[in-house]
Amino acid sequence: MNLDLTGKRALVCGSSQGIGRAAAMELALLGASITLVARNEESLKAVVEHLPADDTESHHYLITDFNYPEQLKMVLDDYLKDHAIDILINNTGGPAAGKAIDAKIEEFTKAFISHLICNQILVQAVTPAMKRQGFGRIINIISTSVKTPLAGLGVSNTIRGAVASWAKTLATELAPFGITVNNVLPGFTMTARLESLINSRAENEDLNYEQIKQQMIESIPAKRIGEAEEVAAAIAFLASPAAAYINGINLPVDGGRTPSL
Ligand SMILES: NC(=O)c1ccc[n+]([C@@H]2O[C@H](COP(=O)([O-])OP(=O)(O)OC[C@H]3O[C@@H](n4cnc5c(N)ncnc54)[C@H](OP(=O)(O)O)[C@@H]3O)[C@@H](O)[C@H]2O)c1
Repeated sequence: MNLDLTGKRALVCGSSQGIGRAAAMELALLGASITLVARNEESLKAVVEHLPADDTESHHYLITDFNYPEQLKMVLDDYLKDHAIDILINNTGGPAAGKAIDAKIEEFTKAFISHLICNQILVQAVTPAMKRQGFGRIINIISTSVKTPLAGLGVSNTIRGAVASWAKTLATELAPFGITVNNVLPGFTMTARLESLINSRAENEDLNYEQIKQQMIESIPAKRIGEAEEVAAAIAFLASPAAAYINGINLPVDGGRTPSL
């Protein structure tokens, strides 16, 4: 099986921590050069220093905030003058928890911008070079809520569905150019995002952190919370040459938790 990413460059968004950081690590282990993207420069520097590399110059980072799509566009336009991207990992922080009925209009707009609009800017920026190369991988980190909406994540459920539909449409449009577009759907994965969701549920349900965590574990057939590295392994496989004929899928990495097919 060909998992070799030597000579490829991966732009990995939301990679200063969590699933994005783990994905950057896996892709680098398969030989890719990495361009990290996030807001926190100190964290990005620390990740770059820990990425495996034969050549110390091979990994880079870009600082930008997905709440400001024009800023993202400027940063990309500048960087892509000298760099071609073979693999794009679309990923950013999840929307705040809460019921859909209570959400303010601005919360939907903010999530739509930072997830869908920024993904679109990224895809439009990187696909011309992918088309010329006849190779491209676009992998969107979404959520199992694409298959089954999750209680207490109203804005997230709504926007994730839009991103999944956008991605499926693009998969068909870009397939003739050797570009695949797939979605990875993490289940409960131990990162800062999950810790904040557990804390938010604990507050709302008048329980403590450990009680909520235990409830989550009970809901997972595998009876444990996943690790970021386990989601990253799925991302790295989909990015590899071996996955060339897998296109337009939603892949849950959730210990069997999603009840739908
Ligand atoms: N962990 C789970 O259990 C789980 C389950 C289902 C879905 N997901 C989804 O998977 C994605 C990744 O999750 P995670 O657990 O790895 O999250 P995380 O630990 O919160 O990491 C989010 C990453 O996105 C970056 N980011 C956040 N806001 C940004 C912004 N405005 N502009 C640019 N970068 C931004 C963060 O870096 P900076 O702060 O440095 O910008 C960080 O690197 C999220 O969409 C999450 O909702 C996670």
